Amino acid sequence: MKFIPIQCFTAILLISLTYSRRIGIKDQVILSGYDYRTDFFVQPVDHFGFSNPDTYKQRYLIAEQFWNKDGGPIFFYTGNEGDIAWFCNNTGFMWDIAAEFKALLVFAEHRYYGESIPYGPEAYKSPTKMNYLTSEQALADFAVLISHLKATLPGATNSSVVAFGGSYGGMLSAWMRIRYPNVIVGALAGSAPIWQFPSLTPCEAFNKVLTNAFNQASPTCVDNIRKSWAAITERGSTDAGRDFLTKTFRLCGPLTSTTDVTLFKAWLVEAWTDLAMVNYPYPANFLENLPGWPVKKVCDKLSIPTEGDQLLEFLFEAANIYFNYTGNTPCLNTSQQATASLGDLGWDYQSCTEMVMPMCTNGQMDMFEPSPWNFTDFSEQCYKRWKTRPRPDWISTQYWGKQIQSVTNIIFSNGLLDPWSSGGVLESPGASLVPIIIKDGAHHLDLRASNPLDPPTVVAARTQEKNIIKMWLGQQQ
Ligand SMILES: *[C@@H]1O[C@H](CO)[C@@H](O)[C@H](O)[C@H]1NC(C)=O
Ligand SMILES: *[C@@H]1O[C@H](CO)[C@@H](O)[C@H](O)[C@H]1NC(C)=O
Ligand SMILES: *[C@@H]1O[C@H](CO)[C@@H](O)[C@H](O)[C@H]1NC(C)=O
Ligand SMILES: *[C@@H]1O[C@H](CO)[C@@H](O)[C@H](O)[C@H]1NC(C)=O
Ligand SMILES: *[C@@H]1O[C@H](CO)[C@@H](O)[C@H](O)[C@H]1NC(C)=O
Repeated sequence: MKFIPIQCFTAILLISLTYSRRIGIKDQVILSGYDYRTDFFVQPVDHFGFSNPDTYKQRYLIAEQFWNKDGGPIFFYTGNEGDIAWFCNNTGFMWDIAAEFKALLVFAEHRYYGESIPYGPEAYKSPTKMNYLTSEQALADFAVLISHLKATLPGATNSSVVAFGGSYGGMLSAWMRIRYPNVIVGALAGSAPIWQFPSLTPCEAFNKVLTNAFNQASPTCVDNIRKSWAAITERGSTDAGRDFLTKTFRLCGPLTSTTDVTLFKAWLVEAWTDLAMVNYPYPANFLENLPGWPVKKVCDKLSIPTEGDQLLEFLFEAANIYFNYTGNTPCLNTSQQATASLGDLGWDYQSCTEMVMPMCTNGQMDMFEPSPWNFTDFSEQCYKRWKTRPRPDWISTQYWGKQIQSVTNIIFSNGLLDPWSSGGVLESPGASLVPIIIKDGAHHLDLRASNPLDPPTVVAARTQEKNIIKMWLGQQQ
């Protein structure tokens, strides 16, 4: 999804396949008390036509233990591109406030992810079967599921529903309020880059914010990373140099060609990008185990001006914090980030249809090699993989682009350390659209469970969010 500033043809492949790691949160918070039951609801595969009679089973998780059946609200998580249990586990904020609001919690899985796949995993091999993987169909699933729950759960008939979501899930909760304001009273859209689309946000913005987050840790670190690409390219141009890189970075497999070196660079770009997203104040267990404030830890290794081979040695030490914080990684595997789970593939499909998010770098405002946004090339790659061509302007037509001033009751929270804040709503476009800026926040930190190491800015954000939700529900503050 992010446009990796190495040349496009390899980059795109890596980008989209690793999307869910960029935008989604996969760390596991193993906390007791997240008790829910799992249920399935039969949905039409096609909500918008009448000739396809097929159905599929949508998974949802439901927790009733906090709920006051006599008027308590429903807090509804609009699932992202992945297994809903991840998001359930990583949206501690909903669990933290459920008792106070006496709320019913529901986490609904997004179609084509986790266990909610129309036509089963084989669908991924067939463009016609993938055809129903759109945000519109997903929102319709959510709306229909809510109606079903209200009709069948004793006590739910008159419950107000508040949508919650982070990242793409946050985009969905905001869009849910735009499309189905009759179904939900409001939406908390955490780190939702609803404007990371063509002609709404400049393509360089994402990498500029990313670089700023590193710059806050150490400007020298940024200079060193910026210089590292040329150092890698130079060493990577000869057999002896590639051998040096393989040894210095303790790679599992040798770099044997300049193509390998290009992939190696893309792999590093990905690591720096992921780090910025998960730059949380406390240790968290993502795909990689990380210390608190990991960007600072990484930049500590790159805080002395240096160049050449010494720079590459420091760069390895920095990368090793990301890949080997636990000390359990025997060698660094450059193909690891390209591992394609179903969630990654699903997002790749979505980015090749509706979710066109232009990214580019120029090497000046950011710390990467210059790489322009090339839609033609992007479209070609999509056609090769999915037989689809992306429609770059559809999302702004469908969800109103920047003309959302007449929409009501959405909170847009954004951490300024999060590169995705580049496409977020940071200033209020309308009276009851409330931007909340979390100065020290990475990717939807506010939606995570509270933690003693949380900075005051996120504590304040959560209080403000609760007060606004109370207002939507007609409760006194
Ligand atoms: C969610 O957390 C539970 C424990 O609370 C754990 O058993 C489960 O594996 C986690 N699921 C995912 C997908 O992270
Ligand atoms: C729901 O609200 C309507 C209108 O206020 C009321 O007539 C009805 O009794 C309520 N239903 C339940 C189950 O509380
Ligand atoms: C990872 O850390 C362990 C423990 O410090 C070390 O033995 C191992 O060599 C490291 N792996 C790499 C790739 O550096
Ligand atoms: C590197 O990662 C790939 C993809 O996950 C895997 O197939 C391969 O076995 C790994 N290599 C090593 C040496 O761990
Ligand atoms: C964009 O990509 C297309 C297809 O790969 C290529 O022909 C074209 O030269 C590229 N345009 C620019 C400006 O790089």
